[in-house]
Amino acid sequence: MEQLDKVGFLDIQIDPSLDLFEEIELLKKEKNAIVLAHYYQEPDIQDVADYIGDSLGLAQKAVSTDAEMIVFAGVHFMAETAKILNPDKKVLLPDLKAGCSLSDSCPPHLFKAFKEKHPDHLVISYINCSAGIKGLSDIICTSSNAQLIVESLPKDQKIIFAPDKNLGGYINKKTGRDMLLWNGACMVHEIFSHEKITKLKHRHPGAKLIAHPECEEIVLSLADFIGSTTQLLKYAEKDKNQTFIVATEAGILHKMQQIAPNKTFIAAPPDNACACNDCPHMKRNTLEKLYLCMKYEQPEILMDEETRLAAKKPIDRMLELSAQLGLGS
Ligand code: 13P
Ligand code: SF4
Repeated sequence: MEQLDKVGFLDIQIDPSLDLFEEIELLKKEKNAIVLAHYYQEPDIQDVADYIGDSLGLAQKAVSTDAEMIVFAGVHFMAETAKILNPDKKVLLPDLKAGCSLSDSCPPHLFKAFKEKHPDHLVISYINCSAGIKGLSDIICTSSNAQLIVESLPKDQKIIFAPDKNLGGYINKKTGRDMLLWNGACMVHEIFSHEKITKLKHRHPGAKLIAHPECEEIVLSLADFIGSTTQLLKYAEKDKNQTFIVATEAGILHKMQQIAPNKTFIAAPPDNACACNDCPHMKRNTLEKLYLCMKYEQPEILMDEETRLAAKKPIDRMLELSAQLGLGS
């Protein structure tokens, strides 16, 4: 926020006659920049991005790109991961306040104390965590490789899984392990209403429920398919079914409708009055902020070298394992 205030983005008026799509394309060329976006970004940002993916795909793309500037249309931990992997590149995030409730649910000082109580445990952390937590971890995982990463370890290996108790619980169930779970969760994925989804399934008897593993167990128990955002997209594209109820952040429906225009996608209903299942952090980024951040090259992700190196080790381990297992984009 400090950097954002310095630049004074909030006060800058953009000429309304500017075609921001065109301007962003020009800035990409001028600055040798790549725009990486997550599926939860608003449709305009997805449409202007060079690559859209899940957390694993985005991390892999951040490693393979030869662009000099990475503009990350996602949340802070994603841009931070790109910087950890690319210390010599400029990594920008359109709004530095685009955080993550799941990452915030695991403060490093509390996690360090928890870890110290279980010295014989190996730590696997979901990528939705801060660089501080990554530095306290042995292996990072994402929702697309968590199960295989856990299964790659000996059965009797004691494991702490952080920070998402829902993903951890789901992997425990799938693998028969008994990982010790940090009590964290995502505010967006915990909001889906089991009762409303059940009613919706009755109204659309042929519809399949597809869900992200960050959802609560009771919602996952209703699902026909569970996977990362990219896995949900691939399933929705290939499956013969016509109608899908989608239990993840609503931004993904844009891509689903693009890749399968003749199918019907219904956002799973949340348990709140405004019927909204947008991630407020992801949606802090806008096309205007993306344009301004590319133009002024701010706000930039910066980090001290000690933190970066400690966080890089478990990410590298994940990337190596994913390559061995043939996972990713
Ligand atoms: P994936 O896109 O890796 O499935 O993660 C979803 C998410 O929670 C991003 O915040
Ligand atoms: Fe974090 Fe949840 Fe938003 Fe993903 S959807 S960025 S896990 S708060």
